[in-house]
Amino acid sequence: MSREDFMDLFVDQLNDIYSAETQIVKSLPKMINAASSTELKNAFESHLKETRNQVTRLEKVFKALGEKIGNESCEAMEGIIAESDEVTQLYPPSALRDAALIACAQRIEHYEIAAYGTLCTFAQELDLDDIQELLGETLDEEKSADEKLTGIAEGGLLSTGINQKALNR
Ligand SMILES: [Fe+2]
Repeated sequence: MSREDFMDLFVDQLNDIYSAETQIVKSLPKMINAASSTELKNAFESHLKETRNQVTRLEKVFKALGEKIGNESCEAMEGIIAESDEVTQLYPPSALRDAALIACAQRIEHYEIAAYGTLCTFAQELDLDDIQELLGETLDEEKSADEKLTGIAEGGLLSTGINQKALNR
């Protein structure tokens, strides 16, 4: 495979995650509204700020590559977000709804972790060090966001997790 073909694949993958990120920016405010737990609302809110910055980071990557951002939509993210909208319709505000929202949010994070993991590896293969670094920053943020959600769901010594609250309501 030529470098040009591999670069095209890299740019396609960048477009996919760019679409996913912009969908997440639109979806998170709804998830913030739908959540009952203050801790969960705060986690979604701080990830919304992070996600806006991740969109900007991707725009920098496109600029550095001299590539235009396409207008294709990431269908996988459309599906995951549709499921999180369903959760809000299905459950009234409660710890149970919060547990379901976390389940959706972690699906979002894992999609992103997979996407950025691949993008980092591709950037490395292409010797695009600066771009790899930018994508790596986002990858780390997605992993932290995922771990934070696990912590909120499972709880710890100082706080009861949302899963327990949902179970014992
Ligand atoms: Fe993200």
